[in-house]
Amino acid sequence: MTYNIATLPGDGIGPEVVEQAVKVLKAIGEKYGHNFVFTYAPVGATAIDQTGEPYPADTHKLCMNSDAVLFGAIGDPKYDNDPKAKVRPEQGLLKMRKDLGLYSNIRPISPFKSLLHRSPLRQDLVDGADFVVIRELTGGIYFGQKGRSEDGNAAFDTMYYTKDEVRRIVTLAFDYARKRRNKLTVVDKANVIASSRLWRETVQEMVGDYPDVAVDYLFVDNAAMQIIQWPKQFDVIVTGNMFGDILSDEASVITGSLGLLPSASIGTHTGVFEPVHGSYPQAAGKNIANPLGTILSAALLLELGLNLVEEAKAVREAVDASLSAGVVTEDISEGEKAYSTSEVGDWLAKQVLSGVAV
Ligand code: IPM
Ligand code: MG
Repeated sequence: MTYNIATLPGDGIGPEVVEQAVKVLKAIGEKYGHNFVFTYAPVGATAIDQTGEPYPADTHKLCMNSDAVLFGAIGDPKYDNDPKAKVRPEQGLLKMRKDLGLYSNIRPISPFKSLLHRSPLRQDLVDGADFVVIRELTGGIYFGQKGRSEDGNAAFDTMYYTKDEVRRIVTLAFDYARKRRNKLTVVDKANVIASSRLWRETVQEMVGDYPDVAVDYLFVDNAAMQIIQWPKQFDVIVTGNMFGDILSDEASVITGSLGLLPSASIGTHTGVFEPVHGSYPQAAGKNIANPLGTILSAALLLELGLNLVEEAKAVREAVDASLSAGVVTEDISEGEKAYSTSEVGDWLAKQVLSGVAV
């Protein structure tokens, strides 16, 4: 079968890590008899340089007409310290989320045994942690009304949610919990914020439909603390856009290996699969960046985007094998030889094809 994959490398290390994921997907195609067609398009600072827009209409068209989107990273330091820049790479990301209707961002958090000692937390706290942060991605304060007073001395952003928006993300979270350990934690700030009270009210209207799922509620400040104190208590966490932005970064570092974490953004149209890490401009072009986050995002693309579950498993097994064999980039190598980004990609592609370490 033919699958069309919109390939959006983006900025910084994006192109080099995406190239490795493409190699691995090609190997999967060869092994399982699929024809993956990769069509490239610009996004982020790269797209601004080429077209003036961070998410050009042609890129959107390609995404809409594809079966899945493989995304690298966006962001460029030349925009970070210029709060007055009219066009910013991040606007491209937000526009893509909105235009593709990607209302959910899914970040699985589970540490790799061989990297446990890299966690900033005690190993016994992290070993066995296994949870998913599900973040609402197209609403809340990111997209609510915002503005500036006439004299320019005040500004505001609005955290706005409708019951429908809450219901569709929480439905997805309940379904996820059912496929896992049947526990759902709803994170909000209902003691202060009106839209959080709407979240709670909406969830309470839904719990009757999911008697097999245990639901609890945490205020976001408490949740931030509990993720550090006792991460093993969580199964599925669901929360709004900004709380999810913050908590998912916090959750990702406890594994000690940000470079390995994948994410999926799913919604109304084509799903987008990208590593959790950013564009890491200092490493761009040096062939040292860790490609595993993007390769594991390709595994999510196979599983959630194309429903190719066995193929996704083969990618994850190859990644496990590379970790065991020490075929890793310098950020996680232990004194032994560090491999380059492309060497890790080559090794994994061969591993997928042969099923044995080469
Ligand atoms: C993320 C990022 C983005 C966000 C930025 C780059 C706009 O932090 O995907 O988590 O805040 O959503
Ligand atoms: Mg973020």
